[in-house]
Amino acid sequence: MDAATPAQQQCVLVTGGLGFIGSHTVVELLKGGYNVVVVDNLFNANEKVLDRIDTIVGEDAAKNLSFYRADVCDREALTSIFDDNTITSVIHFAGYKAVGESVVKPIEYYTNNLTSTLTLVDVMREHGCKSIIFSSSATVYGNPDALPLTEASPKKNATNPYGWTKWMIEQILTDLHTSDSAWNVVLLRYFNPIGAHPSGLMGEDPKGIPNNLVPYVAQVAVGKRDAIHVYGDDYDTPDGTGVRDYIHVCDLACGHVAALTWMNDRTGVEVFNLGTGKGSSVLDVITSFSAACGKKLPYVMEPRRSGDVTANYANCIKAKEYMGWEAQYDLDDMCRDSWNWQSHNPNGYEG
Ligand code: UFG
Repeated sequence: MDAATPAQQQCVLVTGGLGFIGSHTVVELLKGGYNVVVVDNLFNANEKVLDRIDTIVGEDAAKNLSFYRADVCDREALTSIFDDNTITSVIHFAGYKAVGESVVKPIEYYTNNLTSTLTLVDVMREHGCKSIIFSSSATVYGNPDALPLTEASPKKNATNPYGWTKWMIEQILTDLHTSDSAWNVVLLRYFNPIGAHPSGLMGEDPKGIPNNLVPYVAQVAVGKRDAIHVYGDDYDTPDGTGVRDYIHVCDLACGHVAALTWMNDRTGVEVFNLGTGKGSSVLDVITSFSAACGKKLPYVMEPRRSGDVTANYANCIKAKEYMGWEAQYDLDDMCRDSWNWQSHNPNGYEG
Protein backbone atom coordinates (compact mmCIF):
# COMPACT_ATOMS: atom_id res chain seq x y z
CA MET A 1 0.00 0.00 0.00
CA ASP A 2 1.23 3.48 -0.81
CA ALA A 3 2.72 5.38 2.12
CA ALA A 4 0.41 8.25 1.37
CA THR A 5 -2.76 6.18 1.38
CA PRO A 6 -5.14 8.42 3.28
CA ALA A 7 -7.18 7.14 6.16
CA GLN A 8 -10.37 7.54 4.11
CA GLN A 9 -9.17 4.85 1.72
CA GLN A 10 -8.34 2.39 4.46
CA CYS A 11 -10.69 -0.01 6.13
CA VAL A 12 -9.59 -1.35 9.50
CA LEU A 13 -11.09 -4.49 10.98
CA VAL A 14 -11.13 -4.22 14.78
CA THR A 15 -11.71 -7.51 16.58
CA GLY A 16 -13.07 -7.02 20.08
CA GLY A 17 -13.87 -3.47 19.03
CA LEU A 18 -16.60 -2.96 21.63
CA GLY A 19 -14.42 -3.88 24.60
CA PHE A 20 -12.61 -1.46 26.87
CA ILE A 21 -9.52 -0.72 24.79
CA GLY A 22 -11.18 -1.62 21.48
CA SER A 23 -14.00 0.90 21.84
CA HIS A 24 -11.64 3.76 22.66
CA THR A 25 -9.49 2.80 19.69
CA VAL A 26 -12.52 2.73 17.38
CA VAL A 27 -13.32 6.30 18.45
CA GLU A 28 -9.79 7.48 17.60
CA LEU A 29 -9.86 5.66 14.26
CA LEU A 30 -13.18 7.23 13.28
CA LYS A 31 -11.91 10.66 14.38
CA GLY A 32 -8.87 10.03 12.17
CA GLY A 33 -11.11 9.43 9.13
CA TYR A 34 -10.71 5.65 8.88
CA ASN A 35 -13.42 3.25 7.80
CA VAL A 36 -13.88 0.80 10.65
CA VAL A 37 -15.42 -2.66 10.76
CA VAL A 38 -15.93 -4.04 14.24
CA VAL A 39 -16.33 -7.72 14.93
CA ASP A 40 -17.25 -8.60 18.51
CA ASN A 41 -19.17 -11.53 19.98
CA LEU A 42 -20.27 -9.40 22.97
CA PHE A 43 -18.88 -11.99 25.37
CA ASN A 44 -17.26 -9.25 27.38
CA ALA A 45 -18.75 -6.15 25.77
CA ASN A 46 -22.07 -4.39 25.43
CA GLU A 47 -23.79 -3.43 22.19
CA LYS A 48 -24.79 -0.11 23.79
CA VAL A 49 -21.19 0.99 23.26
CA LEU A 50 -22.13 1.55 19.60
CA ASP A 51 -24.50 4.42 20.49
CA ARG A 52 -21.88 5.93 22.76
CA ILE A 53 -19.30 5.82 19.96
CA ASP A 54 -21.78 7.52 17.60
CA THR A 55 -22.43 10.27 20.14
CA ILE A 56 -18.74 10.92 20.67
CA VAL A 57 -17.65 10.98 17.02
CA GLY A 58 -20.79 12.55 15.52
CA GLU A 59 -23.05 11.48 12.69
CA ASP A 60 -20.65 11.90 9.79
CA ALA A 61 -17.80 9.85 11.20
CA ALA A 62 -20.25 7.29 12.61
CA LYS A 63 -21.31 6.45 9.05
CA ASN A 64 -17.87 4.93 8.53
CA LEU A 65 -18.46 2.30 11.21
CA SER A 66 -20.04 -1.10 10.70
CA PHE A 67 -20.58 -3.77 13.30
CA TYR A 68 -20.79 -7.54 13.00
CA ARG A 69 -21.78 -9.63 15.99
CA ALA A 70 -19.58 -12.63 15.39
CA ASP A 71 -16.93 -14.77 17.00
CA VAL A 72 -13.43 -14.52 15.58
CA CYS A 73 -13.16 -18.32 15.90
CA ASP A 74 -16.06 -18.60 13.40
CA ARG A 75 -14.25 -18.96 10.09
CA GLU A 76 -17.40 -18.71 7.97
CA ALA A 77 -18.51 -15.48 9.62
CA LEU A 78 -15.05 -13.99 9.32
CA THR A 79 -14.77 -15.01 5.68
CA SER A 80 -18.02 -13.31 4.80
CA ILE A 81 -16.91 -10.14 6.64
CA PHE A 82 -13.72 -10.10 4.56
CA ASP A 83 -15.75 -10.85 1.41
CA ASP A 84 -18.08 -7.92 2.10
CA ASN A 85 -15.41 -5.36 3.02
CA THR A 86 -12.03 -4.51 1.53
CA ILE A 87 -10.12 -4.76 4.79
CA THR A 88 -6.69 -3.11 4.53
CA SER A 89 -5.48 -3.90 8.06
CA VAL A 90 -6.57 -5.53 11.28
CA ILE A 91 -6.27 -4.54 14.93
CA HIS A 92 -6.74 -7.69 16.99
CA PHE A 93 -8.04 -7.13 20.52
CA ALA A 94 -10.51 -10.01 20.88
CA GLY A 95 -9.61 -12.55 23.53
CA TYR A 96 -10.19 -13.73 27.06
CA LYS A 97 -8.26 -11.55 29.48
CA ALA A 98 -8.81 -12.47 33.12
CA VAL A 99 -5.50 -13.58 34.60
CA GLY A 100 -6.95 -15.53 37.57
CA GLU A 101 -9.65 -17.21 35.49
CA SER A 102 -7.04 -18.35 32.98
CA VAL A 103 -5.31 -20.36 35.73
CA VAL A 104 -8.57 -22.20 36.42
CA LYS A 105 -9.59 -22.57 32.75
CA PRO A 106 -6.39 -23.03 30.76
CA ILE A 107 -8.02 -25.11 28.02
CA GLU A 108 -10.65 -22.45 27.39
CA TYR A 109 -8.03 -19.69 27.32
CA TYR A 110 -5.63 -21.48 25.00
CA THR A 111 -8.44 -22.66 22.73
CA ASN A 112 -10.16 -19.32 22.44
CA ASN A 113 -7.20 -16.96 22.21
CA LEU A 114 -5.10 -19.13 19.91
CA THR A 115 -7.90 -20.45 17.68
CA SER A 116 -9.31 -16.98 17.10
CA THR A 117 -5.90 -15.63 16.13
CA LEU A 118 -5.06 -18.55 13.86
CA THR A 119 -8.46 -18.34 12.17
CA LEU A 120 -8.08 -14.61 11.75
CA VAL A 121 -4.64 -14.68 10.14
CA ASP A 122 -5.63 -17.55 7.87
CA VAL A 123 -8.69 -15.67 6.61
CA MET A 124 -6.55 -12.54 6.26
CA ARG A 125 -4.05 -14.49 4.18
CA GLU A 126 -6.81 -15.85 1.94
CA HIS A 127 -7.94 -12.31 1.29
CA GLY A 128 -4.48 -10.86 0.72
CA CYS A 129 -4.60 -8.72 3.87
CA LYS A 130 -1.28 -9.04 5.68
CA SER A 131 -1.20 -6.09 8.01
CA ILE A 132 -1.96 -6.69 11.68
CA ILE A 133 -1.57 -4.89 15.00
CA PHE A 134 -1.73 -7.23 17.97
CA SER A 135 -2.82 -6.31 21.44
CA SER A 136 0.00 -7.73 23.51
CA SER A 137 0.97 -7.07 27.08
CA ALA A 138 3.84 -6.20 29.36
CA THR A 139 3.07 -9.55 30.93
CA VAL A 140 5.45 -11.10 28.35
CA TYR A 141 8.36 -9.54 30.27
CA GLY A 142 7.50 -11.64 33.34
CA ASN A 143 9.41 -10.66 36.47
CA PRO A 144 11.86 -8.08 35.14
CA ASP A 145 15.59 -8.11 35.89
CA ALA A 146 15.93 -4.39 35.26
CA LEU A 147 13.66 -1.37 34.94
CA PRO A 148 12.50 0.42 32.91
CA LEU A 149 11.57 -2.27 30.41
CA THR A 150 12.64 -1.67 26.84
CA GLU A 151 11.49 -3.65 23.83
CA ALA A 152 14.89 -5.37 23.98
CA SER A 153 14.28 -6.62 27.53
CA PRO A 154 14.01 -10.41 27.47
CA LYS A 155 10.67 -12.15 27.26
CA LYS A 156 10.34 -14.33 30.33
CA ASN A 157 8.09 -17.19 31.31
CA ALA A 158 4.53 -16.01 31.74
CA THR A 159 2.99 -16.63 35.15
CA ASN A 160 -0.43 -17.72 33.87
CA PRO A 161 -2.15 -19.11 30.75
CA TYR A 162 -3.51 -15.69 29.74
CA GLY A 163 0.04 -14.34 29.69
CA TRP A 164 1.23 -17.36 27.75
CA THR A 165 -1.40 -16.76 25.07
CA LYS A 166 -0.01 -13.23 24.56
CA TRP A 167 3.50 -14.67 24.50
CA MET A 168 2.57 -17.39 22.01
CA ILE A 169 0.58 -15.14 19.70
CA GLU A 170 3.57 -12.79 19.47
CA GLN A 171 5.59 -15.83 18.38
CA ILE A 172 2.95 -17.02 15.90
CA LEU A 173 2.81 -13.62 14.21
CA THR A 174 6.60 -13.42 14.13
CA ASP A 175 6.78 -16.88 12.50
CA LEU A 176 4.16 -15.81 10.00
CA HIS A 177 6.39 -12.98 8.88
CA THR A 178 9.36 -15.35 8.66
CA SER A 179 7.32 -17.57 6.34
CA ASP A 180 6.15 -14.69 4.17
CA SER A 181 7.95 -11.37 4.35
CA ALA A 182 4.93 -9.54 2.92
CA TRP A 183 3.38 -9.64 6.41
CA ASN A 184 3.39 -6.43 8.36
CA VAL A 185 3.11 -7.09 12.10
CA VAL A 186 3.12 -4.64 15.00
CA LEU A 187 3.07 -6.03 18.53
CA LEU A 188 1.93 -3.44 21.04
CA ARG A 189 2.83 -4.29 24.62
CA TYR A 190 0.44 -2.48 26.90
CA PHE A 191 1.30 -1.66 30.45
CA ASN A 192 -1.74 -1.02 32.71
CA PRO A 193 -4.60 0.65 30.84
CA ILE A 194 -7.02 2.58 33.05
CA GLY A 195 -9.06 5.78 32.80
CA ALA A 196 -12.04 6.32 30.55
CA HIS A 197 -13.17 8.58 27.74
CA PRO A 198 -13.21 12.17 29.11
CA SER A 199 -16.84 12.52 27.94
CA GLY A 200 -17.88 9.99 30.61
CA LEU A 201 -19.68 8.01 27.89
CA MET A 202 -17.27 5.08 27.67
CA GLY A 203 -15.17 3.25 30.19
CA GLU A 204 -14.32 -0.09 31.71
CA ASP A 205 -17.34 -2.24 32.54
CA PRO A 206 -16.12 -5.41 34.23
CA LYS A 207 -18.52 -8.26 34.88
CA GLY A 208 -18.78 -9.30 38.54
CA ILE A 209 -16.03 -8.49 41.02
CA PRO A 210 -13.27 -6.52 39.28
CA ASN A 211 -9.89 -8.27 39.17
CA ASN A 212 -7.92 -5.14 38.42
CA LEU A 213 -7.08 -2.38 40.82
CA VAL A 214 -8.68 0.71 39.32
CA PRO A 215 -12.11 -0.75 38.49
CA TYR A 216 -12.20 -2.07 42.06
CA VAL A 217 -11.19 1.31 43.50
CA ALA A 218 -13.88 2.97 41.36
CA GLN A 219 -16.54 0.63 42.76
CA VAL A 220 -15.45 1.42 46.32
CA ALA A 221 -15.64 5.13 45.45
CA VAL A 222 -19.19 4.78 44.17
CA GLY A 223 -20.25 2.76 47.24
CA LYS A 224 -20.67 -0.64 45.58
CA ARG A 225 -17.85 -2.22 47.62
CA ASP A 226 -16.68 -1.58 51.17
CA ALA A 227 -12.91 -1.26 50.99
CA ILE A 228 -9.99 -1.72 48.67
CA HIS A 229 -7.84 -4.80 49.27
CA VAL A 230 -4.19 -3.91 48.85
CA TYR A 231 -2.29 -7.03 47.83
CA GLY A 232 1.01 -6.77 49.63
CA ASP A 233 2.75 -3.96 51.53
CA ASP A 234 6.11 -5.66 51.88
CA TYR A 235 7.44 -5.31 48.34
CA ASP A 236 10.79 -3.70 47.74
CA THR A 237 9.22 -0.44 46.54
CA PRO A 238 9.13 3.05 48.12
CA ASP A 239 5.89 2.41 50.05
CA GLY A 240 5.92 -1.40 49.98
CA THR A 241 3.02 -1.78 47.51
CA GLY A 242 3.25 -2.97 43.91
CA VAL A 243 4.33 -0.51 41.25
CA ARG A 244 2.85 -0.36 37.74
CA ASP A 245 2.93 1.90 34.71
CA TYR A 246 -0.68 3.04 34.41
CA ILE A 247 -1.64 4.46 31.04
CA HIS A 248 -4.79 6.33 30.04
CA VAL A 249 -6.92 4.24 27.69
CA CYS A 250 -7.23 7.22 25.30
CA ASP A 251 -3.44 7.48 25.08
CA LEU A 252 -3.35 3.78 24.36
CA ALA A 253 -6.03 4.17 21.68
CA CYS A 254 -4.00 6.93 20.02
CA GLY A 255 -0.99 4.60 20.09
CA HIS A 256 -2.89 2.26 17.74
CA VAL A 257 -3.64 5.04 15.28
CA ALA A 258 0.02 6.08 15.41
CA ALA A 259 1.05 2.48 14.74
CA LEU A 260 -1.35 2.20 11.81
CA THR A 261 0.07 5.35 10.25
CA TRP A 262 3.63 4.29 10.90
CA MET A 263 3.25 0.76 9.49
CA ASN A 264 1.59 1.92 6.28
CA ASP A 265 3.78 0.82 3.36
CA ARG A 266 6.08 -1.29 5.54
CA THR A 267 6.58 -4.95 6.14
CA GLY A 268 8.28 -6.62 9.09
CA VAL A 269 7.67 -7.28 12.76
CA GLU A 270 8.03 -4.43 15.20
CA VAL A 271 7.41 -4.31 18.94
CA PHE A 272 6.44 -1.20 20.90
CA ASN A 273 5.88 -0.63 24.58
CA LEU A 274 2.88 1.55 25.30
CA GLY A 275 3.11 3.05 28.75
CA THR A 276 3.93 6.40 30.32
CA GLY A 277 7.39 5.51 31.61
CA LYS A 278 6.30 6.35 35.14
CA GLY A 279 5.71 3.82 37.90
CA SER A 280 2.95 4.39 40.48
CA SER A 281 2.25 2.32 43.57
CA VAL A 282 -1.11 0.97 44.69
CA LEU A 283 -1.16 3.64 47.41
CA ASP A 284 -0.40 6.35 44.81
CA VAL A 285 -3.46 5.19 42.87
CA ILE A 286 -5.65 5.24 45.99
CA THR A 287 -4.44 8.74 46.89
CA SER A 288 -5.02 10.06 43.40
CA PHE A 289 -8.47 8.46 43.11
CA SER A 290 -9.45 9.78 46.56
CA ALA A 291 -8.59 13.29 45.36
CA ALA A 292 -10.61 12.75 42.17
CA CYS A 293 -13.76 11.59 43.98
CA GLY A 294 -13.36 13.95 46.92
CA LYS A 295 -13.33 11.36 49.70
CA LYS A 296 -10.71 9.29 51.45
CA LEU A 297 -11.15 5.75 50.18
CA PRO A 298 -10.87 2.96 52.77
CA TYR A 299 -8.36 0.19 52.21
CA VAL A 300 -7.11 -2.89 54.01
CA MET A 301 -3.75 -4.57 53.66
CA GLU A 302 -3.78 -8.17 52.44
CA PRO A 303 -1.08 -10.71 51.63
CA ARG A 304 0.57 -10.57 48.22
CA ARG A 305 -1.47 -11.89 45.29
CA SER A 306 0.12 -14.91 43.68
CA GLY A 307 1.76 -14.24 40.31
CA ASP A 308 2.14 -10.47 40.86
CA VAL A 309 5.48 -8.85 40.07
CA THR A 310 7.00 -6.24 42.38
CA ALA A 311 7.26 -3.46 39.86
CA ASN A 312 7.17 -2.80 36.16
CA TYR A 313 7.26 0.31 34.07
CA ALA A 314 8.16 1.03 30.50
CA ASN A 315 10.78 2.83 28.57
CA CYS A 316 8.64 4.32 25.75
CA ILE A 317 11.34 6.07 23.77
CA LYS A 318 11.01 3.73 20.81
CA ALA A 319 7.33 4.55 20.27
CA LYS A 320 8.19 8.24 20.38
CA GLU A 321 11.15 7.97 18.01
CA TYR A 322 9.49 5.70 15.47
CA MET A 323 5.83 6.69 15.59
CA GLY A 324 5.90 10.11 17.21
CA TRP A 325 3.62 8.81 19.97
CA GLU A 326 3.85 9.53 23.67
CA ALA A 327 1.36 9.48 26.50
CA GLN A 328 -0.31 12.80 27.32
CA TYR A 329 -2.28 12.03 30.47
CA ASP A 330 -0.97 11.57 34.01
CA LEU A 331 -2.31 9.46 36.89
CA ASP A 332 -4.54 12.26 38.21
CA ASP A 333 -6.12 12.63 34.75
CA MET A 334 -6.68 8.88 34.58
CA CYS A 335 -8.36 8.77 38.00
CA ARG A 336 -10.46 11.85 37.20
CA ASP A 337 -11.76 10.22 34.00
CA SER A 338 -12.33 6.84 35.67
CA TRP A 339 -14.32 8.57 38.37
CA ASN A 340 -16.29 10.61 35.84
CA TRP A 341 -17.25 7.40 34.02
CA GLN A 342 -18.00 5.40 37.18
CA SER A 343 -20.02 8.13 38.87
CA HIS A 344 -22.16 8.72 35.78
CA ASN A 345 -22.51 5.01 34.97
CA PRO A 346 -22.46 3.23 38.35
CA ASN A 347 -23.68 0.03 36.72
CA GLY A 348 -21.62 0.38 33.56
CA TYR A 349 -23.47 0.34 30.26
CA GLU A 350 -26.53 -1.20 31.90
CA GLY A 351 -27.19 1.70 34.16
N1 UFG B 1 -4.01 -4.78 43.28
C1 UFG B 1 -4.44 -4.59 44.57
N2 UFG B 1 -5.77 -4.80 44.81
C2 UFG B 1 -6.66 -5.19 43.85
C3 UFG B 1 -6.18 -5.41 42.56
C4 UFG B 1 -4.85 -5.19 42.31
O1 UFG B 1 -3.69 -4.22 45.45
O2 UFG B 1 -7.84 -5.37 44.15
C5 UFG B 1 -2.59 -4.47 42.98
C6 UFG B 1 -1.81 -5.61 42.39
O3 UFG B 1 -1.25 -6.42 43.37
C7 UFG B 1 -0.80 -4.87 41.55
C8 UFG B 1 -1.53 -3.61 41.09
O4 UFG B 1 -2.59 -3.45 42.01
O5 UFG B 1 0.29 -4.47 42.33
C9 UFG B 1 -2.11 -3.69 39.68
O6 UFG B 1 -2.91 -4.84 39.58
P1 UFG B 1 -3.93 -5.05 38.37
O7 UFG B 1 -4.68 -6.33 38.63
O8 UFG B 1 -4.73 -3.83 38.15
O9 UFG B 1 -2.96 -5.20 37.11
P2 UFG B 1 -1.77 -6.23 36.86
O10 UFG B 1 -0.52 -5.43 36.79
O11 UFG B 1 -1.81 -7.38 37.76
O12 UFG B 1 -2.17 -6.82 35.42
C10 UFG B 1 -2.27 -5.98 34.32
C11 UFG B 1 -3.32 -6.52 33.35
C12 UFG B 1 -2.89 -7.82 32.76
C13 UFG B 1 -1.56 -7.72 32.18
C14 UFG B 1 -0.56 -7.14 33.15
C15 UFG B 1 0.72 -6.85 32.43
O13 UFG B 1 -4.54 -6.71 34.03
O14 UFG B 1 -3.81 -8.14 31.72
O15 UFG B 1 -1.04 -5.91 33.69
O16 UFG B 1 1.72 -6.41 33.26
F1 UFG B 1 -1.11 -8.94 31.80
